[in-house]
Amino acid sequence: MLNFVTFMECVNAPNSTCLTSPGVLAPVFLTLMLVAVGALVARRDRKRFRELRAQGIWASFIILAYSVVVLAYFFLFAPDAVLGVEQSQIGNMLWISAIFAYGMGVATLVGMLGFAFGGWLVKRKRTPATAQRLVVAIDGPAASGKGTVAKRIAQHFGLPCLDTGLLYRAVARDVVAKGGALDDANAAAAAARALDAATLDDPNLRGPAAGDAASIVAKMPAVRAALLDYQRRFASDRRGAVLDGRDIGTVICPDADVKIFVTASAEERARRRHREHDARGEAITYEDVLADIRRRDARDSGREIAPLEAAADAITIDTTTLDADAAFAAARDVIVAKIASNPAAKKQ
Ligand code: CDP
Repeated sequence: MLNFVTFMECVNAPNSTCLTSPGVLAPVFLTLMLVAVGALVARRDRKRFRELRAQGIWASFIILAYSVVVLAYFFLFAPDAVLGVEQSQIGNMLWISAIFAYGMGVATLVGMLGFAFGGWLVKRKRTPATAQRLVVAIDGPAASGKGTVAKRIAQHFGLPCLDTGLLYRAVARDVVAKGGALDDANAAAAAARALDAATLDDPNLRGPAAGDAASIVAKMPAVRAALLDYQRRFASDRRGAVLDGRDIGTVICPDADVKIFVTASAEERARRRHREHDARGEAITYEDVLADIRRRDARDSGREIAPLEAAADAITIDTTTLDADAAFAAARDVIVAKIASNPAAKKQ
């Protein structure tokens, strides 16, 4: 039969019973579980991890603050009640809730520290690949595969990744949501200035209509100017970053360590996009997708400001005959070769 001793009893007077007591094993087990959960979440989605960590730590502070205020009140103004003398029913309830909140607050804080530790362990494991800053600019036309390459490169080198197309898609969404017209430059610039980056994971931004609308607002100098700072700040992360779009190597990060231009034939890009629409159950013909891609190519390449073009020092990868793995491997090789030829860039 197991002897029950509490965690605090073991902290005060450690003995061999502590090794098997559920009172000790349960909190240790729970904390280890949270370390594992923290590591898992941080590995899959660093942004989500940071949000959860902040929310958890805030929650524990709020619970602790409540208990500290109530306990301080009792100790300072009603010490008799603390000793169990003259406790009214309300006083009694307050006292119990404060003690309970204290325990919950400490447990939540310890749990969140475990969660944060798990995330930190994953980060530490990735750091060798990112010992020095590395900024990778990936540009290319619609559906060339640049987004997939960018995400996998970011994961491989442990870098944050920004799909800048989402910014323009979100601006177009916000203009329409406010009842504005897409070709109203003032409304679009106002939406760009007010853009909330937390809304970029909106699934409605993925469809063809959102891409087409994005290329309309993306022609406007005031929209591009309003989004410039956000993108540059993202690229200034101490680890570096991977950004994909149309003008990353030419305008946003002209000093990027590595610039890659990902392209493919319009027909192959239309086939890929059509498969994506099919998978999401969106009814659209191949011909319509191809026409959309051609229209956007023309709009993006023909505009006066920040047109779609490869930077002079970009390396082009044509993915027409490459699958996602081969495209990633080609981009990785370009980066590794660049790092090897440039001692200021980071080691693989
Ligand atoms: O994924 P896909 O390549 O189809 O489109 P996207 O990268 O999400 O970009 C949507 C539209 O935003 C493009 O057609 C461009 O007009 C515009 N865009 C831009 O002008 N500059 C960027 N850096 C990224 C996107």
